Amino acid sequence: MREIALHILDIMQNSTAAQANMIRVSITADPKADTLTITIEDNGCGMDSELLASVTDPFSTTRKTRRIGLGIPLMKASCERSGGSFEITSQKSIGTTVTAVYETDHIDRPVLGDLAGVITDMAASWPGVDIQLRLMYQAKQFEFSSGEAARMLGEVPLSEYSVVKWLREYINEGINEIFGGVLSEILG
Ligand SMILES: Nc1ncnc2c1ncn2[C@@H]1O[C@H](COP(=O)(O)OP(=O)(O)O)[C@@H](O)[C@H]1O
Ligand SMILES: [Mg+2]
Repeated sequence: MREIALHILDIMQNSTAAQANMIRVSITADPKADTLTITIEDNGCGMDSELLASVTDPFSTTRKTRRIGLGIPLMKASCERSGGSFEITSQKSIGTTVTAVYETDHIDRPVLGDLAGVITDMAASWPGVDIQLRLMYQAKQFEFSSGEAARMLGEVPLSEYSVVKWLREYINEGINEIFGGVLSEILG
């Protein structure tokens, strides 16, 4: 089964293709509702209502290289397999928001996977894009912004090996702190 982090990567790649310079990934665990809700928001070119209505169909893509688009239909199927739901809203020239809900304790929920790797790789590959991550569980919150990190680093690029390594560890610590014991695959 595919990791949730890889679905998030696919959706983030749609945002960079849409020329976004801000992508915000938020992940909220709600133990009462037994849900893990992931939103990926961007300020890219957006979609008109016709394209938006067709994107959950795998035969819909505006890419020229391959004639079917799979990022969105695959994540939707993954959510629905685990008792969750999937929604996209978009406004032309404003941006797009993808909301993916998983039933946390569902037997078919994929593991979170290497989220820290995905976020640091995106931050290193797209220095002009503010990649934001926010994790929430009850009163606990963790936030990261690659734009803010870049400002703090000054001349040192986010793609520098030591920086990538440090960021990855930092984000992994945040994931463990917020979701340890909440997601069965992460021990608290
Ligand atoms: N964040 C986004 N902003 C603007 N358009 C988007 C966004 N996400 C998806 N799209 C549109 O939906 C299409 C389908 O996306 P997807 O299922 O990921 O397949 P692919 O990226 O392979 O085309 C894209 O080709 C693009 O036209
Ligand atoms: Mg895609």
